[in-house]
Order: sequence, then C-alpha cells, then structure tokens
Amino acid sequence: MEQKFDRATTDRLLLRRPRQEDAPSVFQIESDPRTNQFRPAGPMKNIGEATENINAWQAEWDTYGFSYWIVTLPNNPTVIGIGGIRCIRWKERYILNLYYRFSPTVWGNEYASELAKFAVDLGSNHLSNFPIVARIRSSNVPSLKVVEKSGLKRRHDLDTSEHLVYALGW
Ligand SMILES: CC(C)(COP(=O)(O)OP(=O)(O)OC[C@H]1O[C@@H](n2cnc3c(N)ncnc32)[C@H](O)[C@@H]1OP(=O)(O)O)[C@@H](O)C(=O)NCCC(=O)NCCS
Repeated sequence: MEQKFDRATTDRLLLRRPRQEDAPSVFQIESDPRTNQFRPAGPMKNIGEATENINAWQAEWDTYGFSYWIVTLPNNPTVIGIGGIRCIRWKERYILNLYYRFSPTVWGNEYASELAKFAVDLGSNHLSNFPIVARIRSSNVPSLKVVEKSGLKRRHDLDTSEHLVYALGW
C-alpha cells in the first residue's frame, strides 16, 4: 500500500512524502496571504507551525501509509504545493479529507485539479472503506472549480453553516 502512495506521479506532477527539510517551503506557501484569503485562521505565522504539520503528516505516513503529499514538478525540487487525502474524524466518522494549497506562482496550470483527481481516484480505489470529503467555503471559487472536476459529488445534505460539502462513499 505505502509504495503506491509515498512517491506517486501524475501526468505532470511528482507527489512525495513530506520531509523535515520541507518546512521552509511549506511555511512559504502556508504563510502567503494569497493562499489564505478563505481561511479564517489566517496565514501560518511561524516556521514552527510548518514543522508541526510536517511532524503530524509524517506520523500519519508511518501509521497509515498515506497523508498529504508535497508536490513538485518531476525534474525540479522546488515545492509548488501541498495536498492529497488525510484521515480525520468528521461528523463522528473517519473520513479522507481532500486538501490542496498551491503556490500562487503556479496557479492557473490545472495542477491542483490534477492532484485532486489523482487523490480521489487513489482513495476510492485503495481506501474505499472511508468516504472522501472536501469542505469548501462558497466564496472560494477556485477551490470549488477544482473539486467539481475531482470526482467528488456535491452533497447538500452534508453542508455545514460554513462549508459546502462534496463527498464520495458517504
Ligand atoms: C484552490 C487552488 C489550489 C487552485 O489552484 P490552481 O492551480 O489555480 O487550480 P487549477 O488551475 O487546477 O484550477 C483552478 C480553477 O479556478 C479558476 N480560478 C482561478 N482563480 C480564480 C478566481 N479568482 N476567480 C474565479 N475562478 C478562478 C481557474 O480558471 C480554474 O478554472 P477552470 O477549471 O474552469 O479552468 C489555489 O487557488 C490555492 O492554493 N488556493 C488557496 C488554498 C485553498 O483555498 N485551498 C482550498 C481549501 S478548501
């Protein structure tokens, strides 16, 4: 199972397990105000938070064999995004939470759409015991466009006061 997940390639992207040395790149993407326009908590404030996230993702990789990926282009080590599926508890169930956050320097290339579709395909083929869920604010139009193409279905019945919900397998 782990081999399928921890270093995967899509048509244009390399998806790999996070490393400690990714902290500055993760911080750069997560602290950019442009990538946080729709996140109430606001941008990440210090690199320690990036390290904490990476530690959590690494622990999940060790335990479950999957968590969020670091995204690069195949022949360039520059980190361009973070995303994938991660197991969390929501509405009293374990779900695979679909997430994507890319550097504004690469927006508009359909990379997020490529990642989301790949993650949903992989999750539904190999982790089908768990529903895949994406929760998105109605104002986050780019993210809604990405999820619409991911294979998840709009689920009005699961919406919360803050989020529109898309799911598969629920
Ligand atoms: C959501 C995000 C990952 C999309 O990245 P991206 O690389 O631009 O995504 P894609 O190129 O695959 O597609 C984005 C779609 O949104 C559209 N879009 C981009 N910016 C837009 C804007 N300001 N208004 C309306 N549509 C927009 C693009 O045209 C594209 O539409 P299309 O599928 O009809 O061609 C990126 O905007 C991001 O990192 N946002 C911050 C983090 C975030 O909100 N993540 C989601 C949390 S729920």
